[in-house]
Amino acid sequence: MMTILVLGSGAREHALAWKLAQSPRCKELFVAPGNAGTSQVAKNVPLKLSDFEAIAAFVLNSGVQMLVVGPEAPLVAGITDFFMSRKDLQHVHIIGPVAAGARLEGSKDFSKTFMRKYGIPTAQAQTFTKTNIAEGYTFIDNFEGRIVLKADGLAAGKGVIITANKAEAKAVLQDMLLNERFGEASARVLIETYLDGIEVSVFVLTDGKNYKILPEAKDYKRVGEADKGPNTGGMGAVSPVPFANEAFMKRVEEQMVLPTLRGLKTENIDYKGFIFLGIMKVGEQPYLLEYNVRMGDPETEVVIPRIKTDLVTLFEKTAIGELNSIHLEVEPLCATTVMLVSGGYPDSFDKGFAISGLDSLSSAVLPFHAGTSLNGIEIVTNGGRVMALTALASTQEKALALSNEAAEAISFTQKYYRRDIGFDI
Ligand code: AMP
Ligand code: GLY
Repeated sequence: MMTILVLGSGAREHALAWKLAQSPRCKELFVAPGNAGTSQVAKNVPLKLSDFEAIAAFVLNSGVQMLVVGPEAPLVAGITDFFMSRKDLQHVHIIGPVAAGARLEGSKDFSKTFMRKYGIPTAQAQTFTKTNIAEGYTFIDNFEGRIVLKADGLAAGKGVIITANKAEAKAVLQDMLLNERFGEASARVLIETYLDGIEVSVFVLTDGKNYKILPEAKDYKRVGEADKGPNTGGMGAVSPVPFANEAFMKRVEEQMVLPTLRGLKTENIDYKGFIFLGIMKVGEQPYLLEYNVRMGDPETEVVIPRIKTDLVTLFEKTAIGELNSIHLEVEPLCATTVMLVSGGYPDSFDKGFAISGLDSLSSAVLPFHAGTSLNGIEIVTNGGRVMALTALASTQEKALALSNEAAEAISFTQKYYRRDIGFDI
């Protein structure tokens, strides 16, 4: 039996908590800070994710034996190292890599160098700083094809700009490097070749030696239907992904997963947790766009419900380096999720609107809360992304019908969602 703390407050964490709570091995479950949805399956704890001392104190006082880190920021800031360095916290199983591993997401310059060093197919890129910006302009002048600019550091999903022409590329480079558009995160900028293809997210759980490839997913990042408008955290997702067939997944495993694990070992990085490969499929060839060191959101909301294996055991085996001793069992059903968001998102939006219709949902639908909170007994909106409506069915079409029906049935002021999730594949 295990007492578990999940860090985070999105639909990803609700989905993780929902699955952990079903385990006969879960004794007590906490989510910090959580949302109105997580409070239905766990106890919410008002902790700040940057306050490692407060998290450690809670872990000790509440007998927490397993810490599951949802978002990347605490990992990049070294929460795993902090726990490992404390004698009184050695016994805690942590799902999430040390800071040296989290750099795969925390620095795009580091991850590009890593991909190159270990022979992982990726787009060509070169890094520039304030001091050699003139060379950056020349590089753009001589560049063949469309240009993507990437801030090196964490920029809340906004640090990648796909430019239309060289003039725009130069203006964006200047804005990032000289005007510090993303602060410290854009002190280094990658100029990268644009890849024209279709994206898929692949998730690996590793204990540092062994690994399991979890079900793949496709997310829909743009706010508007037909993939128009600005990027968001994700407006919906599907799993499985029909075009990620067996031959393609074999390439991903051989050309990306194995070299990544080999690289981590060579660099002496003790990595226990998720590796999320953001992949562009160009023709039949996978190219690695980015690493994330956590699960995706909204991908988790379609990946986790497809996992049949006990999640507490899967995580425990990850932490103790025995992932080879467990079989990953996957539900052969299709999962889809449609994200309800606040009108105006990803720019400015209002919050605090009452959410109704949750009681009327079919039992085949799993509502995973994102930006929700409790106002007395009422559930109200509390963020841009409000709720992910997941459905499982024998076909993607049937699952989508359930997700969309549920999206229609739930009401709140300024509700918006994409009605075309999954229709392009
Ligand atoms: P990243 O944070 O690197 O995943 O970039 C965010 C999004 O930008 C990706 O999900 C892609 O949609 C897009 N993107 C990133 N790099 C490239 C590239 N080289 N070519 C085309 N699109 C890209
Ligand atoms: N859905 C993409 C991400 O979580 O980064």
